Amino acid sequence: MDKPKQCIQISQLVFRWPGSHNDLLSIPKLTIEQGAKIFIHGASGSGKSTLLNLLTGVLTPTQGSISILDQSISHTKKAQLDSFRANHFGIIFQQFNLIPYLTVMENIMLPLSFSKHRLSKAQEYKSDIHHQAMEILESLGLDEHNISNRNITELSTGQQQRIAAARALIGAPEIIIADEPTSALDADAKHGFIDLLFNEVKKTNSTLIFASHDHTLATMFDRTLPMDNLTSAHSS
Ligand SMILES: Nc1ncnc2c1ncn2[C@@H]1O[C@H](COP(=O)(O)OP(=O)(O)OP(=O)(O)O)[C@@H](O)[C@H]1O
Ligand SMILES: [Mg+2]
Repeated sequence: MDKPKQCIQISQLVFRWPGSHNDLLSIPKLTIEQGAKIFIHGASGSGKSTLLNLLTGVLTPTQGSISILDQSISHTKKAQLDSFRANHFGIIFQQFNLIPYLTVMENIMLPLSFSKHRLSKAQEYKSDIHHQAMEILESLGLDEHNISNRNITELSTGQQQRIAAARALIGAPEIIIADEPTSALDADAKHGFIDLLFNEVKKTNSTLIFASHDHTLATMFDRTLPMDNLTSAHSS
């Protein structure tokens, strides 16, 4: 069998917020293979969202380098980073960040209007992208015919979370980032949501990076990265 491709490579990474006297993150070396399901675990304020923002190029490392899909993102210009992110990342934000004045379907389609690469990937898979979005909604356990034209503001938190997941999954980006998307759900709903997410990332061999403070979720994943091991306190 072929060796799995490397998806994320971090080398000698240090991150310190401007004006702070201490490094928040220190990661000498980290490699994540394509298709892996990674759990980033740490308390509130430990730096999970900061790390995810470094991986997507929203933040720039203070020192060191990050490569995504064999491309260095550490010295890339902002405009290039924005299009790289739109092409290769599906992001489920901590607060979902759904657009309230758009319908469910319009929200899900949004990434395809920001990225020709993702649009053509979606069209390659199935020429009717609307139908494809309906299929994703169904796979995530939603009544797709009932929900697709509704407004975001009419939906429950659990429904909004699955719409946010559908928006991240459409067009099969190589990397799905999920920043604490389950904090508002009860234990059963959390596990159910993660199972649905796993089914979807398996179909496209996407890498899943999932951050949460809830250690009970760790056993579901291939590998756990405790934030304690990624902070400067640990490495000094
Ligand atoms: N824009 C910013 N400027 C300066 N410091 C920041 C900024 N954003 C976050 N921090 C600090 O960085 C640290 C890590 O924050 P981060 O949001 O990454 O934590 P987190 O693990 O995602 O927490 P939570 O579980 O509450 O989402 C915190 O001490 C926070 O105060
Ligand atoms: Mg956070």
